[in-house]
Amino acid sequence: MTLTLEKTIETFKEKFNTSGKLREKGSKYIPGGYSRHSLTYGPHAIYVDHGEGQYLYTAEGHKLLDFHNNFTTGMLGHNHPKIREALMELIPKGFCFGNPMKHEYRLAQILCERIEAVERVIFSCSASESCLSAIRIARANTGKNKIAKLEGGYHGLGDEFMISLHPYPDAVPGPPSRPIAIPGTAGIPQHTRENVVVLPQNDLNSCERILKENAGDIACVILELQSGAGGLIVLDKEFVKGIRQITHKLGILLIFDETITLRMNFGGLQRSYGVKPDLVVFGKIIGGGLPIGAVAGQEKLFRMGETGKVYHSGTHHGHPLATMAGIACLEVMNEATYDRLHKYGNRLKTELNTWAKEKNYSFIVHGEGSFLGYEFTDKPGREYKSCRDIIKYSNEEQMQIFAFEMVNRGIFPMYRGQLAISEPMTEDDIEMFINNAKSIIETIFEGQ
Ligand SMILES: Cc1ncc(COP(=O)(O)O)c(C=O)c1O
Repeated sequence: MTLTLEKTIETFKEKFNTSGKLREKGSKYIPGGYSRHSLTYGPHAIYVDHGEGQYLYTAEGHKLLDFHNNFTTGMLGHNHPKIREALMELIPKGFCFGNPMKHEYRLAQILCERIEAVERVIFSCSASESCLSAIRIARANTGKNKIAKLEGGYHGLGDEFMISLHPYPDAVPGPPSRPIAIPGTAGIPQHTRENVVVLPQNDLNSCERILKENAGDIACVILELQSGAGGLIVLDKEFVKGIRQITHKLGILLIFDETITLRMNFGGLQRSYGVKPDLVVFGKIIGGGLPIGAVAGQEKLFRMGETGKVYHSGTHHGHPLATMAGIACLEVMNEATYDRLHKYGNRLKTELNTWAKEKNYSFIVHGEGSFLGYEFTDKPGREYKSCRDIIKYSNEEQMQIFAFEMVNRGIFPMYRGQLAISEPMTEDDIEMFINNAKSIIETIFEGQ
């Protein structure tokens, strides 16, 4: 049997036909049927009825092994008893006050204890908001206006962060060593483009040159150590160490956006790099599945906040339910649990990469621990150093066939080719992924 894109989509549409109908119904009231366009999986999103452990149960009643986990957020899978208990403890007391509750500090304390660079924490409702707060804090503390971000870096929906998310060639993104700021969405004002300096991933010399040229204007560099929404790229350790030294020398603050990467190391992914940023942004797992974001870092950078000079407030910031669920989630995620998930991720990556190499297939799994990506590439052994490599070398059709065929078989990866391993998963789940992946890849390359 040859797997064609048309055939896999056809099977997908048949299998998830209730979801297709729900999307049509929703479209009468919400453009596109649902509020998050990123949920679309080819023709439409897969509607969920409920989740339990490592599984999702769709509106059609299909059981899916969930390697998506709401774009890495579901660290403990679904409906984890510890999170449920925490929420049930709070709900009878009420959960919307113009007053703080006594447990909020505890989530901040956990982050301060685990992450070396963190001395103070302020919560919001999303990492998007916390990224915006982080650059405001950086601007206030340095007195400078511009921000620098990596091409392919995603930091939420703020105007500045929508710049140069995907450097598609028809968007004229400039040469790789000097990317041009291009908007990733309509509706970005021209002055925003002028205030964002774009840096190439893993090219330290070019970054140094660009940062030096703009040092008098740049308040901060913000980056993901392993990027997600802009395409999975792992930053080299030497690159990150170099950026730390350069920013330090030039009076530029360094912000690590650990919204995703906190799931990869108990001390934040920064611990495995041995590099300390000035500010850190968190989100996703720190809310245990409820909406949250946090900006954190050195105490001295938050002093202006204490005096009210830097505004930071929102109706639901530090929401009692989100902080309660976040505490429960991080308490389950002790060092041993992190180690186990890391081991699972390494197994999945190593087994598939070793096998693909033996077979001479142009397929790789990359990334670290519990957050991985896969690519169908132009040649065996291709390595990806920047988001431009993804655009240049990845085979979009094979990527799609794989994504559809996986979910048609009952395994749910992120459509963009990424995987998030969750705490309820077992060796059997990893094996199930590996075996299905091998069988699909073989069919793609051998046409069997
Ligand atoms: C690295 C990173 N930063 C920021 C955000 C924005 O987070 P939120 O969706 O909570 O606003 C995301 C979301 O995917 C992210 O991956």
